[in-house]
Amino acid sequence: MKLCKIHILTFVAILLLIPVAHGWGVDGHLITCRIAQARLSKAAADAVSQLLPAYADNDLGSLCSWADRVKFRYHWSSALHYIDTPDNLCTYQYNRDCKDEDGILDRCVAGAINNYTNQLLTYGDDNSASQYNLTEALLFLSHYIGDIHQPLHVGFTSDRGGNTIDVHWYTRKAVLHHVWDDNIIETAEERFYDSNVDELINTLQKNITTVWANQAKAWEACSKTACPDVYASEGIKAACDWAYKGVGEGSVLEDDYFLSRYPVVNMRLAQGGVRLAATFNRIFG
Ligand code: ADE
Ligand code: ZN
Ligand code: ZN
Repeated sequence: MKLCKIHILTFVAILLLIPVAHGWGVDGHLITCRIAQARLSKAAADAVSQLLPAYADNDLGSLCSWADRVKFRYHWSSALHYIDTPDNLCTYQYNRDCKDEDGILDRCVAGAINNYTNQLLTYGDDNSASQYNLTEALLFLSHYIGDIHQPLHVGFTSDRGGNTIDVHWYTRKAVLHHVWDDNIIETAEERFYDSNVDELINTLQKNITTVWANQAKAWEACSKTACPDVYASEGIKAACDWAYKGVGEGSVLEDDYFLSRYPVVNMRLAQGGVRLAATFNRIFG
């Protein structure tokens, strides 16, 4: 009986250790949040610092995957990580596509970005006790601006953003969606950065201020407080042009795919970080 109990505990422990990745994986979110936090205005940096829980030690990156961990506790939030668009159309329209599987409008990652942006705009309002939990709003917004930059988070409906497309990543079995959440980033870290994510972040930060300096200005541009529709339209286009292109059930993805798609992933991570910072800078003034 005792042995049996130990086996059950081992099984539960293993289950808890299996990573369930949704959105960029942990590193993708860490990268966008680190890039963003280094670009905040004084007012935005102060607000973020105030809203983060003390245990985060003022490191937004450490809680950038929090939204994935609470998906099961906050079941309503699981539809807010992505957008399903019509198969093979390669376009996105808010009114047509931003809904959940029950057809409820605004329940998609673009709607969530608008919602948490509006909540955070009440930061500093006089009538103190806000009706919102602004710490959660900060963590959701940080995560969802990352997710919307993962091309397959604005993917086709029938394959659930590549979640039902089985492929091989080099010699290992994988699903296409996970290749874009994790495998491309992970392989780049191993091959080019000695498995050190900080080195990858440094390289992206350097590129943002040099080779991408002009483009980065354009990435930040937004005539409202948040511009998720721009990011979603770019996302489905990148999904068609790069993620889905040349891939079918059972495809073997190796160097040809990795080396041509890795620059796209780099650019989307950089855009996500620059835009998250720009959004916070607009929100907190
Ligand atoms: N579930 C359904 N569509 C999805 C997508 N595009 N990304 C992640 N999860 C999904
Ligand atoms: Zn997510
Ligand atoms: Zn994902």
